Amino acid sequence: MQIIKAKDYKDMSRKAAGILAAQIIMKPDCVLGLATGSTPVGIYEQLIQWHKTGSLSFAGVRTVNLDEYKGLAPGHEQSYRYFMDDHLFSHVDIDKKATHTPDGLAEDEAAECRRYDEVIRQMQGVDMQLLGLGHNGHIGFNEPAEAFQKGTHCVTLTESTIQANSRLFERIEDVPRQAYTMGIKTIMGAKKILLVVSGQDKAGILREACFGPVTPKVPASVLQLHPDVTLVGDAEALSLIG
Ligand code: F6R
Repeated sequence: MQIIKAKDYKDMSRKAAGILAAQIIMKPDCVLGLATGSTPVGIYEQLIQWHKTGSLSFAGVRTVNLDEYKGLAPGHEQSYRYFMDDHLFSHVDIDKKATHTPDGLAEDEAAECRRYDEVIRQMQGVDMQLLGLGHNGHIGFNEPAEAFQKGTHCVTLTESTIQANSRLFERIEDVPRQAYTMGIKTIMGAKKILLVVSGQDKAGILREACFGPVTPKVPASVLQLHPDVTLVGDAEALSLIG
C-alpha cells in the first residue's frame, strides 16, 4: 500500500483528484468505480474545476458506483444516483448512459444483483476504484460480517452505519435499512484502488484496516491483500499510522 499524506481535507481532495485525473488522461475510456459520502465531495469538486478549465474530459469515461439504497428512486435526493448526478455527472461531459448505479427500486433483488455484476463484467472490470472508509471498517456497504461477500448483494445496514448516514436525512427513521453493494471480490478485482480517508474519527479504524488482522469483521482490512492500493489521508486520519 502506498500512503500519501495530505495536510488537510482540501489537500487530500486535490491529491486524490490528481490521481483520478491521471487515470483518465492515461486511459480516456477507463472504467472508474466511484463512491458517495462526505469524503469524496472535495475530489469531485476539484475534478469539475479541472473539467471547466478545459484540462479534463470525461467524454469516454465509464463509471460504476459502489452502492445504492434499496427502496430509493433515482430522483430521490438521498439516493446515490442523485448524489452522483448532483456532485459530478451533471457538471462534466460524461455520457450519463455510461454511468451505472444499482437500481434501488428493482423488484427482484437477486436479479438486480446479477444484472449489476453483469454490467461490471461487460465493462471488463474496473480500472480504478475510489473507496471511502466507514467508521466500522466497511467499504461500499460491505458491513462487518463472518465472511467476505463476493459479488453484488443486498445488505442490512448496521446501526452504526444508519446513525452515521442519518446526518443526511431529515429523520433517522427515513434512512433505508437495506442497500445494494458491490461485493468484496468485485472491489478486489479492480486494477487499482484509491482509498481516501479524512478526520480524527477515522484514525483508529484506519489503523486497524491497514495493520490489524485481515478479517471480514473489518472489511477494509482485505485491502492489505490487494497489489495496488493508494491511500490518501489527511493528517488527522493518518495520525495513528503516519
Ligand atoms: C459510499 C460508500 C461508503 C462510504 C463510507 C464513508 O458510496 O460506499 O462505504 O465511503 O461510509 O462515508 P463518508 O465519506 O461519508 O465518511
